[in-house]
Amino acid sequence: MARSDGRLLVFAVAVSLLAIQCQSFGMKQKVTNLHFFFHDILSGDKPTSVRLAAPKNLSSLVKEKLFGTMFVIDDPLTEGPEADSKVLGSAQGYYIISGQDSPMLVLAADYGFTTGPYNGSSFSLFSRNPVMDTDRELSVVGGRGAFRMAQGIAKLHTHSIDAATGDAVVEYNVTLFHYE
Ligand SMILES: *[C@@H]1O[C@H](CO)[C@@H](O)[C@H](O)[C@H]1NC(C)=O
Ligand SMILES: *[C@@H]1O[C@H](CO)[C@@H](O)[C@H](O)[C@H]1NC(C)=O
Ligand SMILES: *[C@@H]1O[C@H](CO)[C@@H](O)[C@H](O)[C@H]1NC(C)=O
Repeated sequence: MARSDGRLLVFAVAVSLLAIQCQSFGMKQKVTNLHFFFHDILSGDKPTSVRLAAPKNLSSLVKEKLFGTMFVIDDPLTEGPEADSKVLGSAQGYYIISGQDSPMLVLAADYGFTTGPYNGSSFSLFSRNPVMDTDRELSVVGGRGAFRMAQGIAKLHTHSIDAATGDAVVEYNVTLFHYE
């Protein structure tokens, strides 16, 4: 107990030192909440997620699970869940199917905005993504523009998934701690 309190104290001191350091560079800490929908479309003429690589020698078991497969994404971020909802930006990057025994992904992408007050700004997400859980939490590790030095969390909720194609729409609530 005392030991973990000590660690918390060290962490709190480190965070406040960072805050002081940033203030001395004329930067102000801010908290921003974002809400949008992420469309990962594998089917059709213009997929937003394409398979880049897969293991050479797939045994039938591994093939089923797609372990080792990598997808490159340019997934639209929209205001609402509908396919024709207003586009706010895109998530560009990749995910790999990284779970040997369960369908786990690791997602690494830059979420950039092309409209509104965050036009030209983006945050970087790098995290495990347990896609079989309808609700899950992913980590945000950086940001640029309005989201400079962002850290935060993204709460994800699978809005819909097409079992045949793998097309998915995911709701995001992102909380960013960043400096402006
Ligand atoms: C490919 O996988 C099969 C089944 O696991 C194995 O028997 C075979 O030796 C492997 N081939 C190569 C070239 O690794
Ligand atoms: C977003 O920023 C770009 C580059 O500065 C600009 O060309 C574009 O018109 C802006 N879009 C909106 C909707 O403000
Ligand atoms: C996001 O926040 C809204 C408003 O609080 C809530 O209705 C929604 O369920 C949340 N979704 C996620 C994925 O956290």
